[in-house]
Amino acid sequence: MSLGFDLPYFCWHPALGSVGACRQCAIKMFRDEKDTSGKIVMSCMEGVRDGLRISINDTTANAFREQVIEWLMTNHPHDCPVCDEGGSCHLQDMTVMTGHDYRRYNYKKRTYRNQYLGPFIHHEMNRCIQCYRCVRYYHEYAGGEDLNVFAAHNHVYFGREKDGVLQSPFSGNLAEVCPTGVFTDKTLKEHYTRKWDLTSAPSICQHCSLGCNTIASERYGELRCISNRYHHDVNGYFLCDRGRFGYEFVNSENRITQPIIRNRVGESVDEKELMDHLKEIVNNPRLVGIGSARASLESNFSLMQLVGRENFYQGINDDQAYLEKRMADILQSGAVNSASLKEIEQADAVLVLGEDIWNSAPIMALAVRQSVMKTAASDALQTTPLPAWHDAAVKELVQEEKGFLANINLVPSPLDAIAGCTHYAAPEDMARLGAAIAHRINSSLPAVPKAGESIESKAKIIAKALQDAKHPVIISGASCYNEALIKAAFNIAAALNTAGRKAGLSYVFPDCNSMGLAMMHVSSFEKAVERVKREKDTAVIILENDLYKNIPAGKVDAFLQGCKNIVVLDSLHNHTTEKAHVLIPAATFAEGDGNLVNNEGRAQRFMQVFMPKNNYIIESWKWIWKMKAVQAGGENGKVHHSEELLSKIETAMPQFAGISGVAPAHDFRIHGQLIPREPHRYSGRTAILANINVSEPKPLQDEDSPLTYTMEGYAGLLPSATIPFFWSPGWNSIQSVNKYQQEVGGALRGGDPGVRLLNEKPGSAPVFFQYIADPFVPKQKKWFILPQYHVFGSAELAAYSPGIKEQSPDPYIKLSKKDAEELGVTNGSKVSIKIYEREYSLPVIIQNELGAGIVLVPIGLEGMAAMNWGAWITMEKVN
Ligand code: SF4
Ligand code: SF4
Ligand code: FES
Repeated sequence: MSLGFDLPYFCWHPALGSVGACRQCAIKMFRDEKDTSGKIVMSCMEGVRDGLRISINDTTANAFREQVIEWLMTNHPHDCPVCDEGGSCHLQDMTVMTGHDYRRYNYKKRTYRNQYLGPFIHHEMNRCIQCYRCVRYYHEYAGGEDLNVFAAHNHVYFGREKDGVLQSPFSGNLAEVCPTGVFTDKTLKEHYTRKWDLTSAPSICQHCSLGCNTIASERYGELRCISNRYHHDVNGYFLCDRGRFGYEFVNSENRITQPIIRNRVGESVDEKELMDHLKEIVNNPRLVGIGSARASLESNFSLMQLVGRENFYQGINDDQAYLEKRMADILQSGAVNSASLKEIEQADAVLVLGEDIWNSAPIMALAVRQSVMKTAASDALQTTPLPAWHDAAVKELVQEEKGFLANINLVPSPLDAIAGCTHYAAPEDMARLGAAIAHRINSSLPAVPKAGESIESKAKIIAKALQDAKHPVIISGASCYNEALIKAAFNIAAALNTAGRKAGLSYVFPDCNSMGLAMMHVSSFEKAVERVKREKDTAVIILENDLYKNIPAGKVDAFLQGCKNIVVLDSLHNHTTEKAHVLIPAATFAEGDGNLVNNEGRAQRFMQVFMPKNNYIIESWKWIWKMKAVQAGGENGKVHHSEELLSKIETAMPQFAGISGVAPAHDFRIHGQLIPREPHRYSGRTAILANINVSEPKPLQDEDSPLTYTMEGYAGLLPSATIPFFWSPGWNSIQSVNKYQQEVGGALRGGDPGVRLLNEKPGSAPVFFQYIADPFVPKQKKWFILPQYHVFGSAELAAYSPGIKEQSPDPYIKLSKKDAEELGVTNGSKVSIKIYEREYSLPVIIQNELGAGIVLVPIGLEGMAAMNWGAWITMEKVN
């Protein structure tokens, strides 16, 4: 439990543990009640125990701390007014807390040359106080190899060996981990605003299925930065760089800002003209809707209500829809626990079966890394009385020992560096290895016929490690387009449970709300295609979905050509919006409210950060309910508040029971007060619009949440789903999150946000799958095409951010060495592939570990159309 006293510190970080390096957290410790002199100790290096007697306000301890910060400040530039960290700086807070306010050191300060570290992180080394947090985080916690400490004595340097882009996809966390302004957010710098001048709201990352909690912040109608919003069970203290820096699509010039009716004079229309035009379309008896895994549950459900359940489809192909439903059904069955990221981090053995989580779910890879490191530590601590928080000593003890990770994949991954067992194979063969593992854990499950030595020997090692663990976790996903993998992952987890372990299962989904859509049991795009073929004069409403990103172009073209009316709701222009007859601007996550269901089955709410530029940019669900009113011929269909919609979802689909409890209703008040989006230090509100009117306007009204667009309101303990920013008296940096936790590093006070829609049903006997895949057999002159995910480039919306774009690879095709030889191609030479009559010419990368007969093509990259993933294609050398 935290008692909430204030004590300065630098080198300690709740996720990194204690090393006792900075000497800033000194306190006095007394032997017993007779000891009146006591001795100075570093509080971060003392465990709490019965009878412990300490003083944090002892005069000697105070003087010691003041002295330490005076040393640290001798070389620190007094450049707070021009430092990006100023006003939200841990060093400033600690300097004030310690009482250091006068510089006695009259000599020249030490200076350094700064480095170029890429598009995300700005470097300003003069501000360093040598706390070592950056290296401990980047190198030890996140496993990055290219940032370290150089030189010695009073000249230590934290950076890269030479200028260059930071290689870790978790580099953005340096901006929060570094207690000073050495590492700062370069994207914020591009449109810099003091943190206290930002308008912020609680949000959810939109760029993969994990649903990391974020704080999204705005000034002058632009989204300006994303920072971490602590969630004990989801993302903890960290985000990946795609989540942190992929926000700039909101500010894109490519935004749709006005309703458009195409092929008529004056295409931009107002709401009345739009609704008049839509009247006939929404009353078409052959109206269908295409949902989206990147749209909120509210928007998908609303479209389903408008078009009718049987006329609502997903914008993904049959195979993908089937696999995602399969994964959702397995998790919903409750036969195994759907593991949270925290549970993955705490697992004592992890098996990743056929999912490249480094690229498809980056923060999960970071969680797996912690599992591997912590398991080694906890094993070592069995034989010594060292406390687990004693980071340096534990690392000394552990040396190179690691916990168990088996990473079974198509090709190598950066996670392999910490894996005890790796195996590269075709999806079927990975599934066979999975089945062999399940059989070894539970012999009543079918054995794998003709498994071979490679599968048997690895199955033996992996099965033993999982059985030796108490809390193993199995991770898989749909990116290999293979059902047998999904089934094998379940069988292993369920077999471990039956054998008395507390196993977890985690499936990775492709998009931020794929799980929500899968739980809605919606038909695939192919069913919509068949429908349009059967029925003439169909009208379609497409919700926030660039179909060309998910479905091969030929198929989408055929579908759209068969539709009489095409209505598209989206936030950015794309290939699908080009085909729209009616185009309607949709709010992004920053301009609206909604719920997403993450891969774990946790419903989480994002709230409006700022009012959009004009009244046309509203949530898709609001547009759809306007259409519903038109369809019903009046007001009947109107939904007035988001919670009303959530109750409708609960009534219509019991699988979402509890979702209305994700966040307080719009009329929630604390002592009659709303929750301010702006900190009390917010400046400029009387002047910000002075060019229009010198009288301060009435604050904007938000009708959907208890948050207000003011700095006035309730400033005490908030329901955790509504926390718009972390701040506490004397704690202006993100470190103030400590004051919001029940105990340091624990759950937020009042419980972490979100509602888990799935629950394990203890004692229920699992129904195992009996299916064993046949081995993968390459075909003559045909290749099995699968997607290769990239942290930067594969997520559709994030790719609009300049930094993410800069980091995205160029399109390529990966071939096995054998296939390359047979085709007579070398690295860099080109081959052409044909998908639905369209030809793509791509440069070759030869991947030695890739199985013959399989090709990998990056998914989602700019300029890359959707492929027919999980199918056999032909390929030719380009001469
Ligand atoms: S760069 Fe920042 S985190 Fe690293 S040692 Fe210096 S002050 Fe600490
Ligand atoms: S992209 Fe995924 S892993 Fe990265 S911050 Fe967003 S939700 Fe988390
Ligand atoms: S926080 Fe640095 S010595 Fe305790």
